[in-house]
Amino acid sequence: MDIIEKIKKLKKEKNAVILAHYYVSDEVQEIADYIGDSFYLSKIAIGLKEQIIVFCGVSFMGESAKILNPEKTVLMPDMSADCAMAHMADVQTIEKMRNMYDDLAVVCYINSTGELKQHSDVCVTSANAVNIVKALPNQYIFFIPDRNLARYVAEKVPEKKFVFNEGYCPIHEHIQLKEVKKEKELHPKAKILTHPECPKEICDLSDYIGSTSGIIQYASQSDCEEFIICTENGVRYELEKENPQKKFYFTKTEPICHDMKMITLEKIAHVLETGENEVQVTDTLREESKKALEKMLELAK
Ligand code: 13P
Ligand code: SF4
Repeated sequence: MDIIEKIKKLKKEKNAVILAHYYVSDEVQEIADYIGDSFYLSKIAIGLKEQIIVFCGVSFMGESAKILNPEKTVLMPDMSADCAMAHMADVQTIEKMRNMYDDLAVVCYINSTGELKQHSDVCVTSANAVNIVKALPNQYIFFIPDRNLARYVAEKVPEKKFVFNEGYCPIHEHIQLKEVKKEKELHPKAKILTHPECPKEICDLSDYIGSTSGIIQYASQSDCEEFIICTENGVRYELEKENPQKKFYFTKTEPICHDMKMITLEKIAHVLETGENEVQVTDTLREESKKALEKMLELAK
């Protein structure tokens, strides 16, 4: 039996479902039951009928799924697949900011540890951050951990005052302006589609800025035939699947999140077979971090 057959059989036997982010490898996206951006995956995880969720992504994704679905078993194909940015803020600074500003909301990008969510007022993803920040009654926003998404949201919501944190995604931060310009020289008709985790100079050059789903949707609905994509290269799979006649270019140094690529078919089969790598969260962490995630789901409606 090949590995794909094995996964299908195990899924049925164990009453399991596979969720995958757009950044995992093509073969993993191919066998997933649901593929999407962080927001879609956090919503879809709620109300699934299967008892076991195999989460093909990085640790904050599996942790969020467990926090929102405590009665489910959430398995991670690789427990060490982590998002570097998720750790780039700290509780002491949150407390310091709360003491400094009276009318402050701590807005936490979902790419963060459960501990950071626990100390935040609301979570956001790249798909809903602008609308959620707009909807908050607070004058001051402390946006953690990503300074690039924070700057993008601040530009879109000029009526609020932002306090920035120095976190960033190493993958998006290192997309080089000169390499984007080079692609534009080679493909002058191509539209530039960018994830808001990218630095300002890349965003300023772009025709569209949005989440991975937003980028895919934009490319699929556009009359344009060519696109320069400024985000992790895993989105190519869905872009090409939905638009076989269109062309997608990435920078010469392709942005690759090695943690996302740690998820393999063999590891998926292994956790399904053994039940290893179950996400565990303490009751306190779950109760306290759930509020910020649920507030996001409420405000994003
Ligand atoms: P999305 O919100 O588009 O899923 O992005 C998540 C992510 O990790 C970006 O680096
Ligand atoms: Fe984290 Fe960046 Fe990887 Fe997304 S691409 S999971 S933000 S390290």
